[in-house]
Amino acid sequence: MPVRCCCRNVCGRPGRGRLCRVSMRQGWESEAANWARFARTPGHDHSHLDVNLPALTELLPPPGRRTLDLGCGEGRLSRHLGSLGHQVVGIDASPAMIHLAAAHEASQPALVADAARLPFSDEAFDLVVAYMTLHDIDDMAAAVAEVGRVLERGGRLCASIVHPLNSAGSFQGSGPDAPFVISGSYLDPARLSYVVDRGGIQMTFHSEHRPLAAYGRALEAAGLLIEAIREPLPGDGILPGHPAERRWTRIPLFLHFRAAKHFRAAKRDG
Ligand SMILES: C[S@@+](CC[C@H](N)C(=O)[O-])C[C@H]1O[C@@H](n2cnc3c(N)ncnc32)[C@H](O)[C@@H]1O
Repeated sequence: MPVRCCCRNVCGRPGRGRLCRVSMRQGWESEAANWARFARTPGHDHSHLDVNLPALTELLPPPGRRTLDLGCGEGRLSRHLGSLGHQVVGIDASPAMIHLAAAHEASQPALVADAARLPFSDEAFDLVVAYMTLHDIDDMAAAVAEVGRVLERGGRLCASIVHPLNSAGSFQGSGPDAPFVISGSYLDPARLSYVVDRGGIQMTFHSEHRPLAAYGRALEAAGLLIEAIREPLPGDGILPGHPAERRWTRIPLFLHFRAAKHFRAAKRDG
């Protein structure tokens, strides 16, 4: 489906209403080195450390047979899963990301693969973790269908995404009561490419805003039933050091869910 573009400083054509020419897959391959700096610099990605990862960890089932880290990037979540005792394999569409993941001193097995075409047999895993990645995948519905295929019956998908309310709009300021404005449409998908320039690290994020129902439909089609849903908030520990985060106690930053496979996913055409 063609999606509207909301590029900021990326394709030089700011504003919604145009088609984006850079696939998210290409965008992330270009950003691999910047992403590694962003993800690996101690304390830099504080939302990951203080909000996102602890909440995701609470949602995880205990280690089982085999865990897939879908869109593993430079490997930080695979390493975390490995430290919890999971037998993990990571996949990512970006060769540069997989090179970074494999070169880390605590690396876990990782290979280049498209989430929409997984190189694994049916029911090869009892857990798939998609951490901050479903909204960055061009064909999200195909990726979720593949998750349904490679999960055994009763297996789980645990996912963390940018909350669809967050990606639909933006705060008009950094104060705790700053208005949050959706100037376009919540319901229409829109490509988002934006630059975060902080602490000497410049990083361009490539993602797609999709309404909640887009994820719901993909899960339905894949035979995955939501059994837990969370909207984690910045806690008291993070707020004194990062006052602008207080805005995110009114509007959710992330959406987490755990879904269980209840039937064998139907094969998709093509
Ligand atoms: C925000 S990064 C998250 C990486 C990792 N999960 C983490 O949190 O550290 C999103 C990742 O999704 C990957 N990605 C995008 N499209 C993909 C696809 N079609 N198949 C597999 N990975 C993809 C990107 O290459 C990138 O590494």
